[in-house]
Amino acid sequence: MRIDVLTLFPEMVRAPLETSMMRKARERGAVEVHVHNLRDWAEGKHHVTDDRPFGGGPGMVLKPEPIFRAADDLLGPGGPEAWGEGVRFILTTPQGRTFNQEMAAWLARQRRLVILCGHYEGVDERVRLALVTDEISIGDYVLTGGELPALVIIDAVVRLLPGVLAEGAAADDSFTSGLLEGPHYTRPRVYRGMAVPDILLSGDHGAIARWRREQALLRTLERRPDLLERAPLDDADRRFLEQVRREREAAREAGQDALSGQGSL
Ligand code: ADE
Repeated sequence: MRIDVLTLFPEMVRAPLETSMMRKARERGAVEVHVHNLRDWAEGKHHVTDDRPFGGGPGMVLKPEPIFRAADDLLGPGGPEAWGEGVRFILTTPQGRTFNQEMAAWLARQRRLVILCGHYEGVDERVRLALVTDEISIGDYVLTGGELPALVIIDAVVRLLPGVLAEGAAADDSFTSGLLEGPHYTRPRVYRGMAVPDILLSGDHGAIARWRREQALLRTLERRPDLLERAPLDDADRRFLEQVRREREAAREAGQDALSGQGSL
């Protein structure tokens, strides 16, 4: 896969790409990442990339010309229809679809990504109309620019590319399985009075797998019950969740009995 990032702040994007997993992924040839300064495609002595909005109002708008020229240079003229399958031109914006693991997995199957980091009040609408294939938000909050969102997207996508993580490592990720991940422990066995659950030391791989699955179900039930409605669950999962719900219901009723037993005020 090749990823091109178009930004007014290339130094903000480059440093994280030189670190850790991203660096390894590039060294292993899983991905090629090019970070470009949008100013390089701006004309005139001052390389202006933004201008005041027609009709008035606050803030500045990214001009269309540098972005169209960058797109033509990187992907060829003609826009998405001419670029063909497997090429996505992404705009990071709070108005986009909210990014999630499913979108990361889909993007990881593409051949080329160009990520345009939005800035200021926005981007001239003609860029959206003629170039952008996907508008992506990383969450319901507003950042000063699209650089951090671009890095978030790149990180989530690149770790899914073949050869970046150990075989199967991404399969248990929170969200890939449709559930949140359960707890993990490493040595020492007891730390500050907190012991590792015995089951993890039992050597019984079947029992350990079952316990891990149940912990993932519990954590998802507690923190993100909405995910359980869409997660692929088997009969054992459903029986386990039903039992947890019954136990909790019983505990709640017992608590209410205890309260009413104290008499009214
Ligand atoms: N630019 C500013 N805020 C953003 C967000 N939440 N997601 C994507 N791009 C943005």
